[in-house]
Amino acid sequence: MKILVVGAGGQIGTELIPHLQKTYGEDNIIAADLKSDIVERLSKSSRAVMLDATDAGAYSEVIREQKINRIYNLVALLSATGEKNPQIAWKINMGALLNSLEISKEYGCALFTPSSIGAFGESTPHTKTPQDTVMRPNTMYGVCKVSGELLSDYYYHRFGVDTRSVRFPGIISNGALPGGGTTDYAVEVFYEIVKIGNFTCPIPENSFMDMLYMPDALRACTELMDADPAKLRHRNSFNVTAMSFSPEILFAEIKKHVPGANFNYDIDPVKAAIADSWPDSLDDTCAREEWGWKPEWDLSGMVQDMLKAIRVKLA
Ligand code: SER
Repeated sequence: MKILVVGAGGQIGTELIPHLQKTYGEDNIIAADLKSDIVERLSKSSRAVMLDATDAGAYSEVIREQKINRIYNLVALLSATGEKNPQIAWKINMGALLNSLEISKEYGCALFTPSSIGAFGESTPHTKTPQDTVMRPNTMYGVCKVSGELLSDYYYHRFGVDTRSVRFPGIISNGALPGGGTTDYAVEVFYEIVKIGNFTCPIPENSFMDMLYMPDALRACTELMDADPAKLRHRNSFNVTAMSFSPEILFAEIKKHVPGANFNYDIDPVKAAIADSWPDSLDDTCAREEWGWKPEWDLSGMVQDMLKAIRVKLA
């Protein structure tokens, strides 16, 4: 198995690389990113190459040279950034995906591209959101994710490309920071509370969204790709979740460990509208049944582990 991770310098890639190294062997994992400073950082602990995934020629060359047979395509502008630059979001998110699909078809690679809760919209049922339901997103990020799911299924049915995907909710982690997402508040709060004991939240206190702790997200990435294809009735893309909470609930949990923590709200209307259009809680039964998905981290365990990790990181 030779695996390429494109967009490896982001929130997921930074932790997916060591997870893949542990699972499949260090020599078999290659991290690719667009920016030279990120490639330099990645190259300290992994094989790393500089690559613009929207450049089909350069992308093919890496696949050929490194004899890659599995790709994790993590290239994406997130939801809030996408609303600032919708055209650029389409160009980058869809450009990287189309190249990944064409290359996977040509070189016989299996391809994982995350989708998101952002693929849902206002007209989607908001509680226990089913696997197969209305998908009319209100953001460019979501439009790209739905298009990506459809294209990935198309390449599977039409050309037999082994495309697989999960709809990630907000991912909470203590490695690289997320950037430009609507769920970022649930990561940022830990840094601010540990640093200054104070956090101003851009999301309304009663706005529910699904979340996953990074170790569960990493297992989803490898367990789905290693799953028996005969058992997969769905491919692009599976609902996965571990917890659903509002800012109010998360902050009450943090307060149990940091009684002096102070929380205020300064609502960002763009993020608030996006959060409002997304599901409050997902139904991930299909993922559980078809490839054995089972999250290990709940709210209380995640909060304790995050506080511990961020205290060490900022010490
Ligand atoms: N975390 C992403 C965002 O908030 C959702 O997939 O944009």
